[in-house]
Amino acid sequence: YFLGVDLGTSSVKLVLIDEIGAIIRTTSRDYPLSMPHSGWSEQDPAHWWVESKQGICDIFEGLDKSQLAGISFGGQMHGLVILDEADTVLRPAILWNDGRTMEETAYLNTIVGKDTLASLTANIAFAGFTAPKILWVKKHEPDLFAKISKIMLPKDYLAYKLTGVHCTDYSDAAGMLLLDVANKCWSEEMLDICGITEAQMPKLFESYDVVGTLLPDVAAELGLPETVKICAGAGDNAAAAVGTGTVENGACNLSVGTSGTVFIASDAFTLPDNNAIHAFAHATGGYHLMGCILSAASCNKWWMEDILKTSDFAKEQESFVPLGTNGVVFAPYLMGERTPHNDPQVRGAFLGLGMDTTRGQMTQAVMEGVAYAMRDSLEIAKSLGVDIQSTKICGGGAKSPIWKQIFANVLGIPVQSVETEEGPGLGGAMLAAVGCGVYPSVKAMAAEVVKVTDTTMPDMEIHALYNKGYAQFSTLYQAVKHIKA
Ligand code: XUL
Repeated sequence: YFLGVDLGTSSVKLVLIDEIGAIIRTTSRDYPLSMPHSGWSEQDPAHWWVESKQGICDIFEGLDKSQLAGISFGGQMHGLVILDEADTVLRPAILWNDGRTMEETAYLNTIVGKDTLASLTANIAFAGFTAPKILWVKKHEPDLFAKISKIMLPKDYLAYKLTGVHCTDYSDAAGMLLLDVANKCWSEEMLDICGITEAQMPKLFESYDVVGTLLPDVAAELGLPETVKICAGAGDNAAAAVGTGTVENGACNLSVGTSGTVFIASDAFTLPDNNAIHAFAHATGGYHLMGCILSAASCNKWWMEDILKTSDFAKEQESFVPLGTNGVVFAPYLMGERTPHNDPQVRGAFLGLGMDTTRGQMTQAVMEGVAYAMRDSLEIAKSLGVDIQSTKICGGGAKSPIWKQIFANVLGIPVQSVETEEGPGLGGAMLAAVGCGVYPSVKAMAAEVVKVTDTTMPDMEIHALYNKGYAQFSTLYQAVKHIKA
């Protein structure tokens, strides 16, 4: 068996596969997210560790644990995890959707300068990236900053607890704004700018590289063989791309989870004009471009659970209007926005409400607003000359047939699903299988194992209607950007 552990924002999701890539079992365990101030987002790494261990026990219930050969990960990206010399976690992890680093991000982009950042790291600063968070801790928590012995990303904390090896992989490291992505090494200048040293940084690996085996006491606690190999794993988007077979040059994947991402695989490193989308490393050993919106399926969750207080989506959907005819538009900026606005302080909005507006139209507008916002990233990719003819989809949002129709129609391309929506978990398990030598490469395994199970075609008449809606959506940010958190 090979186990993929997807360390997400709302839960850890585990996927167990066999050596031919068949899914044996999946499971998940929730943990809390703490938002101590508007726009802040933190999590306790202890929850990740406890729930991951429990998830491992759950998934093996009744199965032969001695058959486990490898574990790897997909992990929420960019989160800052800091440990002192005694390996104590110094403060709650500051997550990818935390917007507290306005000042640090502005300092990096304007004083250090976008051109310098791009030449050192291939990217500019976004509030959610790790480097601005390090600067924030340096300024606001200098006592903790002075104690930092190890810096790591969320999934790397799991690898560290399992193996004792302080490691990360290129796909996740790319999102720190500390990696020279083109040359796959830490940027000494960037470490200097953040006041840290390479000794504090994790060792770099390819996602499928074996970093170590289980520590004896952990193996004993989990009832697993000490020989289990741990592979470095990937940021959740790169892992999701592996799990959906988005590995060949130009292939596209949409991940509709807490965040919404548009991921485009590329064999060669490319530096996108003005860095409007991220240039990161892929888990295949290649590269990718990516746009990210901070609130995707989480908008729907907020609207259904927190506002409407219902879980009966089928009933809400009964009062949807024909796709492309909704007069209500929703701006999904509940946590600020990354791509394309890089504005952690903007907030969401409903526009176009009338006395005749129904709650169904508002629910529909939430889903359409997320699709429009993700189209922004696709449009940037297209403007860079990337030709996207179809896309895969994964994440919680991919479970909804109507949302898939909305995506296909808003984007005007076929949207393809694979066997599981758990892209990062499956991708993690596949990276473990490759690392253990069952397949010669990530691409080879994806070609053999990942199959499209369902395609949602766009209706080009509805697409034309949605083009008008998208044009309206595109004016929204200017209208709402002054209404800040
Ligand atoms: C990507 C990003 C998010 C998180 C979600 O840049 O910030 O997609 O990885 O877990």
